[in-house]
Amino acid sequence: MSTKHQILIYLKEGKGTWVSGEYLAHKMAISRTAIWKHVHNLKGDGYLIESSPKKGYLLRQSSDLLLVNEIREGLNTSVFGKGDVAYFKETDSTNMRAKLLASGGAPEGTIIVAESQTQGRGRRGRSWFSPSGEGIYTSIILRPTINPNEAPKLTLMASVAVAETLLSMTSLNINIKWPNDILIKGRKIAGILTEISMEMDRIDYIVIGVGINVNTPHKSLPPDIRDIATSISMETGKTFPRIVLLRAYLEWLEIYYETFKTRGFEPVMNRWKSLADIIGHRVSVDMIDRVRVGEVLDVDKDGFLILKEDAGSTERIISGDVTFIE
Ligand code: BTN
Repeated sequence: MSTKHQILIYLKEGKGTWVSGEYLAHKMAISRTAIWKHVHNLKGDGYLIESSPKKGYLLRQSSDLLLVNEIREGLNTSVFGKGDVAYFKETDSTNMRAKLLASGGAPEGTIIVAESQTQGRGRRGRSWFSPSGEGIYTSIILRPTINPNEAPKLTLMASVAVAETLLSMTSLNINIKWPNDILIKGRKIAGILTEISMEMDRIDYIVIGVGINVNTPHKSLPPDIRDIATSISMETGKTFPRIVLLRAYLEWLEIYYETFKTRGFEPVMNRWKSLADIIGHRVSVDMIDRVRVGEVLDVDKDGFLILKEDAGSTERIISGDVTFIE
């Protein structure tokens, strides 16, 4: 652990009381000037620390940034977030960073987190609004030993993990819209973008990117998504600590990934079904090259949408944009 983080731990142990520079210098076996420099750095990381020549230092408020040491504090996982975590104040896209790291050999469980993205990407070439400090933008590298045609299952798995995160941390009414949009009252609060690198019969890596609108105020949403997007703060009227949500997401994702690896996709799919409300609805499904309209008969064991078309035939659809009719 770095000296800076060790000092932070002493300040946190102070629980709102002053910790003297002398005490810290003695504990760390460095000079008081060196302590001062590290505290200065911590302030730069967003920690609200008061300094007094007589009393020392007092941690008033933890940082709101998604710093690696904060992610790890109290994180209840075995792998996710315990190994490599790449943190960016700003990056183009955490998925792009993840793909670069993965092709350079980064291990399963590597996490990429950014405070903001300049080229945040959504499904179907759309962009993902990624303002600084208002949302969670994170990607994880997975290297599952499954057939590439099973990859869509991991996207559904991630949507369950995101839904569980929001359900366990808020009292909001969360829904999944097939295949992987996370909605509150029909408005999108989170999205998932999965990207894959594979050979004929094996996956090299999968990157699962998740964006969650946490503290985005309505007025800062771009006009084109103002009527279709929402955030936790918009729904509850309160800001929410992003770090708590990020930890919960990593924990839920690990739980469902373990479930998938040890017990198969069925329990994940069962939970997905209980969180989605699509079976029996009339929908139109936009699949880029064609649009199908009909009634959803089922979402099958592999996560495909089974659509009874108005024209009469039944189609099994892997991916598309769903619009509910009436
Ligand atoms: C969607 O269109 O619903 C998917 C949105 C996915 C956004 C996340 S934010 C973190 C990761 N990096 C990206 O560039 N996109 C994903």
